[in-house]
Amino acid sequence: MLIIGGPSSQLLAKRTASCLGMSPVVSEFSRFPDNEQYMRILSDVSGEDVVLIQSTTTDGDFFSLLQMIDACSEAKSVTCVIPYMGYARQDKRFKAGEPISARAAAKAVCCDRIFTVNIHEKSILDYFSCPAEDLDASFLIGQYVSGLDLNNPILIAPDRGVEEMVRKTARGLNIDCDVFDKTRLSGSSVVIKEKALNVSGRDVVMIDDMIATGGTMVEAINLLLAGGAERVYIGCVHPVLAGNAVPRLFNAGASGIFATDTIEKEQSCISVASLISDNL
Ligand code: R5P
Repeated sequence: MLIIGGPSSQLLAKRTASCLGMSPVVSEFSRFPDNEQYMRILSDVSGEDVVLIQSTTTDGDFFSLLQMIDACSEAKSVTCVIPYMGYARQDKRFKAGEPISARAAAKAVCCDRIFTVNIHEKSILDYFSCPAEDLDASFLIGQYVSGLDLNNPILIAPDRGVEEMVRKTARGLNIDCDVFDKTRLSGSSVVIKEKALNVSGRDVVMIDDMIATGGTMVEAINLLLAGGAERVYIGCVHPVLAGNAVPRLFNAGASGIFATDTIEKEQSCISVASLISDNL
């Protein structure tokens, strides 16, 4: 088996290969003067079972994945691990005339097997033309949370979409759990309904599948601190953390931000490498 990391998942590929006692294959990634992307795998993949690891956070990342699959045309099999799949939130036609962007992306990824990690909406897996499985990082998140020095903690999901994952994490840790009601007004603005939740004097850990603009978490932090929460930690699987999300979260009063390395950011202190390697 050969592990090959794309430009967005170099560290995760290295960590996954290490879990398997291997070294990742080295590739070159650059751009032509006109900004088109170039890539080259620096090993012979003919006849090999190849595992490509590449999150598709940007359009360029997505095209890199397609280039990598094509570069492995002579491999025996190609498994794509897409730890964070971009466009997964566009899983429906919200207005007439819109594409289902997640379906467009899934249809373009042609290989033998696919893994995602906590994909935003599991029904997207059906759009792939090969067997696709979603891996759940909630156990790893739970491990991290258990290492925090928390006072009478409660885990909270900011909306129903992530409720199952957060409840599972809380059950594993045997700590309280609740879920907020969220209504999205626009790409960067949400309203979170207050709940009859007593967080006074307690440490709260908010967990979402992803943090993009930070709007959801900022609203939640405001509510929790107004309700007397002691400290509010913010966690997610996918740290998209677009624009000024990080300073917004700290300015709102977050005590810490943690995430996995499905997207490689400064906050990615939890690795999903073992989750991936255990399933290959
Ligand atoms: C949406 O349903 C997701 O689970 C996240 O809550 C959302 O994408 C977070 O986005 P933002 O950080 O921009 O509020």
